[in-house]
Amino acid sequence: MNKVAFILTFLVVVAVIACDNKKGLIQPKAAPIPVNACDSIRYNNAAKFILDKNCGSCHSGPFPNGGFDLTAYSTAKVPALSGRISDRITNTNNPMPPFGLMAQDKVDSLMCWINKGAPQ
Ligand code: HEC
Repeated sequence: MNKVAFILTFLVVVAVIACDNKKGLIQPKAAPIPVNACDSIRYNNAAKFILDKNCGSCHSGPFPNGGFDLTAYSTAKVPALSGRISDRITNTNNPMPPFGLMAQDKVDSLMCWINKGAPQ
């Protein structure tokens, strides 16, 4: 009987701790999503990483595919501002990368960067 009482007490304590913990976990999720995520986007804090990883293998070096290097700001901003990048990263018939469009969050981030005027 003592053993059962001990186990029950133990379970109640565990349940109380677990509930307390849950309250703590739920609260941060309730925080509003920052509306200015797109406002703060720049080449150096976001676009560079997406372009380097997804485009750099072909669009870099002395003879880059398509004629431009996408791994440096000075050369990446030219097709960004002319609309060539946005045309291809959203084009399912003629996609860039050629083997298939990037995940939607990456496309959205690049589009956001381009629409803001491709800031450095
Ligand atoms: C596997 C190699 C490869 C990757 C990766 C790649 N590209 Fe390309 N890209 C090419 C080739 C080859 C061409 C030239 C033929 C064409 O236009 O389809 C090209 C052409 C382009 C053009 C058109 C140039 C013009 O004349 O208007 C754009 C814009 C472009 N790429 C953007 C991108 C972007 C942005 C990424 C990354 C999200 C990317 N590419 C990833 C190989 C690649």
